[in-house]
Amino acid sequence: MKKLIGSKKKGAAVFISGKGSNLKNLINFSKSKKSPILIKLIISNSVNAKGLVYAKKYKIQKKIYNFKIKKSTEKKILILMKKKKIDLICLAGFMKILSKNFIRKFKKKIINIHPSLLPKYKGLDTHQRVLLNKEKYTGCSVHYVSSKLDSGKIILQKKIKILKKDNATSLSKRVLKEEHKLYPKAILKIFS
Ligand code: GRF
Repeated sequence: MKKLIGSKKKGAAVFISGKGSNLKNLINFSKSKKSPILIKLIISNSVNAKGLVYAKKYKIQKKIYNFKIKKSTEKKILILMKKKKIDLICLAGFMKILSKNFIRKFKKKIINIHPSLLPKYKGLDTHQRVLLNKEKYTGCSVHYVSSKLDSGKIILQKKIKILKKDNATSLSKRVLKEEHKLYPKAILKIFS
């Protein structure tokens, strides 16, 4: 197994909008010797994103941007990505769609985690929809980001069985647990 220390690691930025459990998990992963990434930045579209607490806790720079003025915001972010030598953007519960222009201009990798077995159940409320459709299985996917929602090339997926007693809350908890294993694995895969 490759061991990477300090400056050898690729710079990563994590974009969040919510509670940031995937962010926390990626920070812990990035501290391990086997991690190919070092998280240098946390970016959010909302000052209320609960996950921003991890910036202070783990002493990582955070930035909050107004996506209502998307064009100028994305321009600023691209400049920052260059300045901070960011090689990987990880979207983790980030609720804004990055423009085609941003994706084209950011020459490195952008990846996302989604709580379904893509290409099924793109978008929001995945667990409710999965249950309504009486699916037998669900799961999570890590994929490259394209300008279409939840549609880029899939890097890794994890499938789980839906239990009779599952509701949207229990399912989201069980899927999230799998997300926390899958996201680091996908990062290891893309840099291996
Ligand atoms: C996760 O289920 C992720 O797959 C989805 O949004 C949720 C974010 O959770 N895109 P957290 O903020 O990482 O806890």
